[in-house]
Amino acid sequence: MRLTKKIAIITGGASGMGLATVHRFLEEGASVVIADFNETKGLEAADQAARAGFKEQVLFKKTDVASEQHIEALIDLTLSHFGSLDIIFNNAGVGGAIGPLTETTTADWDYTFDVLAKGVFLGIKHAARTFKSQAKGGCIINTASIAGLSGDAGPLVYSAAKAAVISMTKAAAVELGPDKIRVNAICPGFINTPLADGGDPEATAKAFGKSQPWPEQGTGTHIAGAALFLASDDAEFVTGEHIVVDGGLTAAGPELSKRFPKSSARNGRYSGITKGSTGADAELRRL
Ligand SMILES: NC(=O)c1ccc[n+]([C@@H]2O[C@H](COP(=O)([O-])OP(=O)(O)OC[C@H]3O[C@@H](n4cnc5c(N)ncnc54)[C@H](O)[C@@H]3O)[C@@H](O)[C@H]2O)c1
Repeated sequence: MRLTKKIAIITGGASGMGLATVHRFLEEGASVVIADFNETKGLEAADQAARAGFKEQVLFKKTDVASEQHIEALIDLTLSHFGSLDIIFNNAGVGGAIGPLTETTTADWDYTFDVLAKGVFLGIKHAARTFKSQAKGGCIINTASIAGLSGDAGPLVYSAAKAAVISMTKAAAVELGPDKIRVNAICPGFINTPLADGGDPEATAKAFGKSQPWPEQGTGTHIAGAALFLASDDAEFVTGEHIVVDGGLTAAGPELSKRFPKSSARNGRYSGITKGSTGADAELRRL
């Protein structure tokens, strides 16, 4: 087991990729505090884990990650119940502001940034305080998104908040590195969770299975695997990094092979070399 005796907080742990990570961390020996705004689903998740044999290792705390008081109370509870803190996964999120930017209000912006960016900042801030006082290092993982890396993988405000998460990850890693506190982010691609499935997980599974070069949909367990790596000692020298977990979606970039299949380097019926504007003839072999 890779997380034996580790104590972890997972925000947004009642659903989707947070819930998948709760299961994975418990199986790997960690104790986990599920922190989520949704009390019903959070209690259900903790109850389900307890019935699966993890009663002593799991706790739920209703938390709004955008509230500093809530984050302080969450960390206090973790310390009083489990005695220390080793890992925080700042993962809670919402879609937030949608629609044309010309119609987006400052209230829409504030709600989105409060949850997605301020929530991550507060998690980093208070976990770092605890880690420093414990003087044994620590691990911070933040959920960003491929939306934070490009202009068309999410709505504008969401994308900006996720870019802020990537930026905070790097800045915090630099500041906290000397204390052996590692800070990394995960950038999920299309992952079939309640946030993304529009109430129809089966149709989403089909659609997401075709959304990237990898021929199957992205699931919460894919993100849990990346989070486990980042939380484990195997990632001891990894900090300030954002790991893209998207089945090759961003690697595909402009997808020229789909847009221009005939001239695609991969799909063509020839191999060999072309010589651009040199005036020299191409040397091609028909396949
Ligand atoms: N699903 C995707 O395709 C995708 C892609 C990239 C990034 N993400 C990000 O992954 C993270 C997890 O999303 P998911 O897809 O698992 O969604 P999800 O809806 O299944 O889970 C998100 C959880 O966060 C909780 N939450 C929302 N606001 C909160 C708040 N203020 N305080 C505490 N908890 C709160 C929700 O109650 C929910 O349980 C989010 O940060 C999301 O932006 C998702």
